[in-house]
Amino acid sequence: MNPDPPPCMTRRQFLLKMGAGAAGTVVAVRLGDLFVGRVLAQDAGRTVRLAAYPRRRIGSLSALQVDTPVEFSYPGDDPLHKSYLVKLGRRAGGGIGPGQDVVAFNTFCTHQGGPLAGVYQARHKVLGPCPLHLTTFDLTRHGMVVAGHATENLPQVVLEAEGDDIHATGVMGLIYGHDRNIR
Ligand code: FES
Repeated sequence: MNPDPPPCMTRRQFLLKMGAGAAGTVVAVRLGDLFVGRVLAQDAGRTVRLAAYPRRRIGSLSALQVDTPVEFSYPGDDPLHKSYLVKLGRRAGGGIGPGQDVVAFNTFCTHQGGPLAGVYQARHKVLGPCPLHLTTFDLTRHGMVVAGHATENLPQVVLEAEGDDIHATGVMGLIYGHDRNIR
C-alpha cells in the first residue's frame, strides 16, 4: 500500500511522483544489465564489474612524478577513452608500485560526460569538480563520488606493474557514452 501523500501534494501528484521514481529504477537496472563484465565484488548493494581488455604498456613507474597526471587513451583511441595515470603519493585502492599509489582513471564524468582532465586536485587526491555539475571523485578510493550529481564511480583503469613498466589490463566500471563494454 502506498504511504499517504505529504500535505503539500495532491494524491494525483504524489502517485505521479512515485511512478516516475519506479520507472527510473527500472531504467537503471536495465542499463546495468547491459554492462557486460566480470563481477568483482558486491559492495554495499553496488556491483563492481571488471571489463578485461587487451593488456597494453602505458608508461613506466620511474617516469612518474607525484601529483603530475599523465594522459593516455585506453582501452582504445575513442576520445571518451582519454585517461589519467597519476602517482598520488598516498596509498590508493588498486594502486601499484612500491607505495601502491599509482592509479589510472577515465577522465569523463559518469553523470553527463563532463571533461575532468585538468581538474586534478593534488591536495585532496581527487578529480573534480566537474565543470558541468561539480561532481568530484576520490582517486584513493576507486573513484568514489565525494560530492555532486554523479552516482557511479569514475571508471578505474586496472594496472599491473612488471619491473618498471606499467600495463593497463581492463577497466572497472562503465565508461561514459557507452551502454555496454566494448568487446
Ligand atoms: S556531468 Fe559531471 S556532474 Fe554532471
